[in-house]
Amino acid sequence: MQNVFKQQLITLRRRKQLSQTALARKLYVSRQSISKWENGDAEPGIDKLVALAEIFGVTLDFLILDTEKPTDVILKIRNLKKAFTTPVLRGINLNLYGRERIALLGSNGAGKSTLAKIIYGKLKPDSGQIESFISNKDDLRVMPQENILIEDLKLAEHVQLTARLNKVYSPAFVTQMIKKFKLDKQSATSVSKLSGGQKRKLALLLSLLKPSKLLILDEPTVGMDLDAIDFFWNYLDHVSGSVLTITHDFNQIDQYFSRVLLLKNGKIAQDVSIDKIHSHNQTIEQWYRHFNATEAQ
Ligand SMILES: Nc1ncnc2c1ncn2[C@@H]1O[C@H](COP(=O)(O)OP(=O)(O)OP(=O)(O)O)[C@@H](O)[C@H]1O
Ligand SMILES: [Mg+2]
Repeated sequence: MQNVFKQQLITLRRRKQLSQTALARKLYVSRQSISKWENGDAEPGIDKLVALAEIFGVTLDFLILDTEKPTDVILKIRNLKKAFTTPVLRGINLNLYGRERIALLGSNGAGKSTLAKIIYGKLKPDSGQIESFISNKDDLRVMPQENILIEDLKLAEHVQLTARLNKVYSPAFVTQMIKKFKLDKQSATSVSKLSGGQKRKLALLLSLLKPSKLLILDEPTVGMDLDAIDFFWNYLDHVSGSVLTITHDFNQIDQYFSRVLLLKNGKIAQDVSIDKIHSHNQTIEQWYRHFNATEAQ
């Protein structure tokens, strides 16, 4: 296991932008231990391996054996086109893989939500194919840009209902999730009376009730206060499966993504790994400003 593990550890740690010291702190070990593992001079015990897999959001197999291969594709999108009054998507080609953290960026009106809606089946494309290797019903969760909430329900009732529909219901689980999202004071409040940020938190909670292979989040942090935003990014860190996030919130996103897509002029104008951006000493925001402004029209 040694050779694969040490390489995986280095790759995953860098991808997450964690220093050896920061990772050591999370695991309650010394920085020297991390260094030894990465040099192949020592191996962690199973408890630390499990903790590492959780921190990186990967399976043990992936951590030890690197079983994630290109066959781990969950979605293949080919030449996808969609027009409303004018063309919006002009030929999207894209593969999504397991356990990716993808930021989908682009200007207002670029077509990000349209692409997301086509992926999760709310809109039909005019032409092109989406080959899906996951079940939309069981493996896909979505937080749309516009909250789709039942306004007449009380917050706790809404969580209960969605948990039942997702077959993950237990009274303790519902209470625990509401508490985790710091919505317990609003449990008995009617959804229609929640603030904008509270509604956003509820929508996020609902999309995270059940683990998924692909989670699509369309501008999840809009309207959230700083505490909620911090909570959101940290929570996302522990979500297994792939996450495709549309966001204009460039604050602190650099440590949460592995891949960045730029949608421009109806095409995926850029598709790069976060390592590549960082190797040019850029933040995602700097990269985005550059390419969104200068990519060929
Ligand atoms: N149902 C619709 N009918 C007509 N035009 C639409 C419809 N949905 C989207 N559009 C148009 O398609 C274009 C892309 O919209 P989309 O919502 O996908 O953009 P976006 O990248 O998500 O933007 P934002 O960052 O503002 O959310 C816009 O010009 C929009 O007006
Ligand atoms: Mg949008």
